[in-house]
Amino acid sequence: MCGIVSYVGEEPKATRLLLQGLKSLEYRGYDSSGIALLNDTLSVYKNKGKILDLEKSLSTLSDEEREKLDQSICGIGHTRWATHGEPSDINAHPHMDSDGTIAVVHNGIIRNYIKLKKELIYKGYTFKSDTDTEVIANLFSYIRKDLIAKGEYEDFLAMRLLSSRLEGSYALAILLNESVNPNSTQPAKRILLAKHESPLVIGVGQLENFAASDSDTVLQFTDGIIRLADCEFAVISKNTIDIQDFEGNVIKPVIEVLKKNDSLMDKKGYKHFLLKEINEQPTVLSKMLSLIEDSTYENFKLINFNINFAEIEKIYCIACGSAYHSAQALKYILGSWCSLPVDVIVASEFNFQHKLIGERDLVIGVSQSGETADTILALQKAKSAGARLLAITNRPASAINNLCGANTYITPADLEISVASTKAYTSQLMAHYLLALQIATARKAISREFFTDILHNLKTLPVLLDQMLNRANHYKAAAVNFAGYRDFIFLSRGINHTTAMEGALKLKELSYAHASAYPSGELKHGPIAILDENVPVISIAIPSIYPDEQIIYEKIIHNALEAKTRKSPSILLTTDSNQDHVEEFDLVMRIPDIDQLFSPILATIPLQFLAYFIAENLGKDVDQPRNLAKSVTVE
Ligand code: F6R
Repeated sequence: MCGIVSYVGEEPKATRLLLQGLKSLEYRGYDSSGIALLNDTLSVYKNKGKILDLEKSLSTLSDEEREKLDQSICGIGHTRWATHGEPSDINAHPHMDSDGTIAVVHNGIIRNYIKLKKELIYKGYTFKSDTDTEVIANLFSYIRKDLIAKGEYEDFLAMRLLSSRLEGSYALAILLNESVNPNSTQPAKRILLAKHESPLVIGVGQLENFAASDSDTVLQFTDGIIRLADCEFAVISKNTIDIQDFEGNVIKPVIEVLKKNDSLMDKKGYKHFLLKEINEQPTVLSKMLSLIEDSTYENFKLINFNINFAEIEKIYCIACGSAYHSAQALKYILGSWCSLPVDVIVASEFNFQHKLIGERDLVIGVSQSGETADTILALQKAKSAGARLLAITNRPASAINNLCGANTYITPADLEISVASTKAYTSQLMAHYLLALQIATARKAISREFFTDILHNLKTLPVLLDQMLNRANHYKAAAVNFAGYRDFIFLSRGINHTTAMEGALKLKELSYAHASAYPSGELKHGPIAILDENVPVISIAIPSIYPDEQIIYEKIIHNALEAKTRKSPSILLTTDSNQDHVEEFDLVMRIPDIDQLFSPILATIPLQFLAYFIAENLGKDVDQPRNLAKSVTVE
């Protein structure tokens, strides 16, 4: 989603740093970008399309304009993911007020923008774009002029008045042209910041300061970070950082010194970040296993959650997208190991469920980014209903981590740059196995022998996964066969329904083909109607030593063969040594031998490759698929 970057210093490097910062925000997903620079006047440059397009248009500017770019010591930048108004040059940020004295970049949504817009039009303000952000620029302009006329202008007072009128979420960076306020005693080159339910951090440098939507962007420039809390404003100049909360209380800045992670933006020789991230999965999983706090049967602890798992009566998992798919595995695992009921609910649908929740329930939020608005809102509702909260996230110091505090497990997958999730998803799956093991042992629900068997199986996963990466060409060959199809069906049952859903989502996201996943028993209840030679069916069927799960396997095969009789090209995803019915499928993709119960992590890998190679074959933008955002910070 939208990304913000800001710079104020004394060296003329604003343009270069803003463009560099915007590039590191590309992973969030965007459709246009722009910068505003403050010299004697304010100048805005913005474009629909990629940052490369913005750079191209900057390179065609007149000498006079280029001079401004080269001399700038203060500016703000933005990557936009359209919410109000289509992706276009005009709707791209930064937005200025009608008089051109204020430039604003914004991440979030202003719910009451239509009402404010009408009010401002009545007061004589004009609008060029369809965005809610232009309303902020004009509203701030109105408040500022009014305060200046009364001789009362002060940055924090103006921002308090602004935020008292805004309903919704916003991270803001604002540049002011001081010529309209000649009596100002403030440093002319300064940036006003506001944070309300959207991420924003400040970077502290030597005679220069920064702000951005994420700490990794700022860490390219400096290692000192101030995390603005929700409902805080800041004013930064090259050598000052002042912070106040929305009530006007002065906040003492707390500077954290973080390690720069220079390697995050490096593809390390891979053609795409997605491919790099697929290949990082064995390392991430090994790291997770090595970080288990206590791996004894008596006291198994992934981390020391402050929750008595023996008392829990019901678990609700709330998440979106891939994180939601991963949580389906937790439901299955806990159901099978502890007979503990688990409901997995799409976070945006949780509104309708939270009244059912009570004090003996545990609500688990799963989110790679830790910033997904729907998941945050659902967790807040669960908290006010009295439930205990637990979070699984990939991002320390995210909003979800703040909400769940010590009961947060941070998956050590590091930043995912590719918009489609791969390593964060498989790390969530591993987290679910380990959390389920902690819950099952706390509830004394599994025997020591079964516990040992589970840990043994989990420990083999990184090794097997590493071996699988060498099979990329095998999966590529499969992908080439199927690149021309526009509709796909993914079938499985039991724990691998998770895998079917994730496989279908990866294919949709990367290749833009339509793909649906069904529990295979559902096929004959409707979806079978669409099957013909143009609709490949990918069936995930992994045998098991456990009788209940072996029946699941047999039923999947049975349903897959039903699909085949409708002429659908048939792909079977199964284990290396399984020979049962394989000759009846058009194509067989294999994973190393593993029991069904532990197979979702491995079974996901061929489907990640399949989606990747199909998208590559079709020439799609693998790392930044159209319309998608990495962290979805609006409801
Ligand atoms: C899929 C994908 C999305 C996210 C979803 C939730 O590849 O990345 O479906 O899983 O937007 O995001 P988080 O996990 O950040 O809450």
